[in-house]
Amino acid sequence: MARRKKIYEGKAKILYEGPEPGTIVQYFKDDATAFNAEKKDVIDGKGVLNNRLSEFFMTGLNQIGVPTHFIRRLNMREQLVRNCEIVPLEVIVRNYAAGTMSKRLGIAEGTQLPRPIVEYCYKDDSLGDPLVTEEHIAAFGWASQQDMDDILSLALRVNDFMSGVMLAVGIRLVDFKIETGRVFDGDFQRLIVADEISPDSCRLWDIETGQKLDKDVFRRDLGNLTDAYSEVARRLGVLPQSNVTKPTLIN
Ligand code: C5P
Repeated sequence: MARRKKIYEGKAKILYEGPEPGTIVQYFKDDATAFNAEKKDVIDGKGVLNNRLSEFFMTGLNQIGVPTHFIRRLNMREQLVRNCEIVPLEVIVRNYAAGTMSKRLGIAEGTQLPRPIVEYCYKDDSLGDPLVTEEHIAAFGWASQQDMDDILSLALRVNDFMSGVMLAVGIRLVDFKIETGRVFDGDFQRLIVADEISPDSCRLWDIETGQKLDKDVFRRDLGNLTDAYSEVARRLGVLPQSNVTKPTLIN
């Protein structure tokens, strides 16, 4: 069998050349990293869960007209996605204060924000993905004004969709990160949601108990990460059938 051409290996995923032009195979690893890879581990089954969950969220987004790179899932760990030119920005949307925002501004974690706040970080691991402003983005040419308008609109639509989907299963979407990419249709360029959307890139808290069901479980040593992600998948009905507990009939 011919070996596939590896295009890029990141912290949690590997990208291979896709079977058709303009496509890429995205492979989800079990590797977990935090604090710019200072903390590392291999978490059995994380890649399988994230592949499924990212498929679930991206499919829903495609269905409501928010364009994403997702084409189809190929197997347990791989999905076929559109090749795009990644904009070198991590786009963070926050509904409640947590993480670096709480640290930076001294706002208690869990405080509801007056409105969703969008932040941009420059994607560069060697710099620790620093927070940047639209001034930096324009001055250094990382994205045009039109790109920024489109990115903001995509980020807020993803926020509304994800908040609603999670609320329906008793989970609060505290914040999340997306990446965007440019695709070219003839002379036209458009922006789509790329990379992944999973509990690796979101903060998800149980509405009743406040229990964390996201990567903070790993970052802060709060328990078993696979159990947390499985709980999210179970509530959303995206776990393989064999893992779903069947209801028992009571006489
Ligand atoms: O760490 P911070 O509070 O800035 O993270 C905000 C959100 O963005 C969290 O949901 C976190 O999981 C996500 N994030 C990410 N990748 C990064 C930085 C943050 O997915 N490199």
